[in-house]
Amino acid sequence: MVQSSTRSKWFACSVILFFALFATAILGQDGLVANGDFETPPSNGFPSDAIADGSIEIPSWKLRGTVELVSSGQKQGGMILIVPGGTHAVRLGNDAEISQVFTVEKGSIYSVTFSAARTCAQLESLNVSVPPASQTIDLQTLYNVQGWDPYAWAFEAEEDQANLIFRNLGMEDDPSCGPIIDDIAIKKLFAPDKPKDNAVLNGDFEEGPWMFRNVSLGVLLPTNLDEEITSLPGWTVESNRAVRYIDSYHFSVPEGKRAMELLSGKEGIISQMVETTPNKPYTMTFSLGHAGDKCKQPMAIMAFAGDQAQNIHYTPDSNSTFQTCNLNFTAKAERTRIAFYSVYYNTRTDDMSSLCGPVVDDVRVWFSGARRIGFAGVGLVFWVFVLVLVLG
Ligand SMILES: *[C@@H]1O[C@H](CO)[C@@H](O)[C@H](O)[C@H]1NC(C)=O
Ligand SMILES: *[C@@H]1O[C@H](CO)[C@@H](O)[C@H](O)[C@H]1NC(C)=O
Ligand SMILES: *[C@@H]1O[C@H](CO)[C@@H](O)[C@H](O)[C@H]1NC(C)=O
Ligand SMILES: *[C@@H]1O[C@H](CO)[C@@H](O)[C@H](O)[C@H]1NC(C)=O
Repeated sequence: MVQSSTRSKWFACSVILFFALFATAILGQDGLVANGDFETPPSNGFPSDAIADGSIEIPSWKLRGTVELVSSGQKQGGMILIVPGGTHAVRLGNDAEISQVFTVEKGSIYSVTFSAARTCAQLESLNVSVPPASQTIDLQTLYNVQGWDPYAWAFEAEEDQANLIFRNLGMEDDPSCGPIIDDIAIKKLFAPDKPKDNAVLNGDFEEGPWMFRNVSLGVLLPTNLDEEITSLPGWTVESNRAVRYIDSYHFSVPEGKRAMELLSGKEGIISQMVETTPNKPYTMTFSLGHAGDKCKQPMAIMAFAGDQAQNIHYTPDSNSTFQTCNLNFTAKAERTRIAFYSVYYNTRTDDMSSLCGPVVDDVRVWFSGARRIGFAGVGLVFWVFVLVLVLG
């Protein structure tokens, strides 16, 4: 009796341990979703170059409408179709969609990274959603001469399961003109700790969307006005154009592994509301650099902090890829807006069309009155000390 109950306890423990490990394996999985790169062969093999007329199957995905698996090298109307990664991707026809359900942690914020390419349509746009949240992502602007870009979008998990849907909103005369999608990954985001000596949250941009180590194009962050649900914790993308999140493996980054590259002039604005004390003096410092992507000079940014605005030109200093800038302001309220945009509309010197721009990193805002009080205190101690010496 005793033995068997011990054994059953052991069994129960092992089962709990097994499920605990299993659950963490599912929940802790940042990176590609199941068959997120569309490289898993369907049970009857990948379709040949001929457009499949029957119904197709894509492992791990639910399909609706005209969905097609495309392979690299495949041609359409004399043009080779773009496959962002590996040798296969998916194309969505008019109003077609793909979806997948996966396990998430209720209440957490997740960021979805995916690669998208335009084909022949003029006004391509995608609806990315995890109902009830959704966002329309405009694929009209070509940010990159390669014809595709990675994008990121964030959602808050309202249940333990998320149904991720990609839908082509296009209604083209030619139904084969829909967008191509590839390399879909998710990442659970962490709210970075509020630093003691810096009012800016995630000012070093180290926390952000999933980036593939082997993808060299950065990740575009489209407009996102929600300061709680964002792929870049703390920050909002206010403008109607995207900005580019870059990594140190493929770009020059002033500090750490990540930074922001501002694109499209005034049409690409990042901002944050920082906590301040009214009528107190503050200093904002940040790094301004180039991304090492052959961006055509000159480069400059407009930096805003409260009612102060400053136009700062990037002036490369010897061998450094960045310079440190500062801006002083007096807070007028308990929350002060800081913001940045690129003054020029820059493109790369090698292809003359890929968008690029100045890099911003390591943004700090602090109460600058504190330092003066600190010095005054030290000075007082010094004079008391001198007085003691003289009198002694
Ligand atoms: C990057 O690696 C992922 C995972 O190994 C793969 O699915 C994807 O196709 C690769 N992307 C590129 C652009 O090579
Ligand atoms: C995008 O899809 C979601 C649900 O998947 C839907 O609620 C929303 O209305 C769609 N948005 C547009 C612009 O079609
Ligand atoms: C700049 O780099 C070159 C070559 O790496 C080196 O010789 C030179 O001393 C550097 N200059 C400064 C100011 O660091
Ligand atoms: C801001 O104030 C600091 C110290 O008070 C000063 O060194 C710096 O030059 C000021 N910055 C600007 C842009 O005026």
